[in-house]
Amino acid sequence: MDTKLRDDIFQHAKEWILKAGETIRGKINDPLIIDTKSNPKDLVTTMDKETEYFLATNIKKTYPNHLLFSEEGYGDDVTSLDGVVWIVDPIDGTMNFVQQKRNFAISIGIFSEGIGEIGFVYDVMADILYSAKRNEGAYKNDVKLPPLKPQLVLDETMLGFNHHWLCENSVMDERVMQQLVKKIRGSRSYGSAALKLAYVAEGIIDGYLTMNLAPWDIAGGIILVNEVGGITTDLDGAPVTLLTNESTLTCHPTIQQEIIHDYLQQGKK
Ligand code: IPD
Ligand code: CA
Ligand code: CA
Repeated sequence: MDTKLRDDIFQHAKEWILKAGETIRGKINDPLIIDTKSNPKDLVTTMDKETEYFLATNIKKTYPNHLLFSEEGYGDDVTSLDGVVWIVDPIDGTMNFVQQKRNFAISIGIFSEGIGEIGFVYDVMADILYSAKRNEGAYKNDVKLPPLKPQLVLDETMLGFNHHWLCENSVMDERVMQQLVKKIRGSRSYGSAALKLAYVAEGIIDGYLTMNLAPWDIAGGIILVNEVGGITTDLDGAPVTLLTNESTLTCHPTIQQEIIHDYLQQGKK
């Protein structure tokens, strides 16, 4: 992607994501209409829809040739990453938004011909914007994030994943995952995939395992992590497609093979 165009897109996206966050903060105590989607735990609120509508309207008005791949219905029917595609989750961590009024994020990943060019994860209530442009590094607000620690030992790592990996599930033998939990120093679950990826990019957790997540949950965060030397693959180590739900591992390359070979491949169903 042409650098001038990319800078223009970055500036617009930054302005819109900050504005969307400001609106959410201003309405955080307003009464919410909460609905469920695929199951009783899959929540959506009017704020998810309003935020996506705001972003979609601006994207379509400013860049009519770009495609939008998003969660709440204002996007396009995206079947490939040809052209410029914005992958947007208006609120990642809706359950946190509803119950905690914090620990949720707006996530935007912008791809050109399948290459991640721009990533944003905005922790709305903390007013922390993680951002990245390909080959220009990742930032936490205005501070550039350092590269991930190169010499990681699995025993000393803290990994992000949720309880689904440790209960009976259709993706992985939970007993193998219990072995992984015993091996590592600690595990963390924050209720927002986008924030977990931003935390990997920041180096405050060393990796993140996701089960069956949608492209919009992870697209923005993957681009942040790329910029600090991390890698995201499926559970076999193959590249992610970002076109369908996938289970993925994001971490530094030094621990990736050990996690995949000694755990994920052993337990995969
Ligand atoms: C959810 C969050 C959560 C993950 C769920 C996602 P949503 O996204 O990322 O951390 O465990 O699977 O669906 O629904 O709040 O946008
Ligand atoms: Ca999400
Ligand atoms: Ca969402």
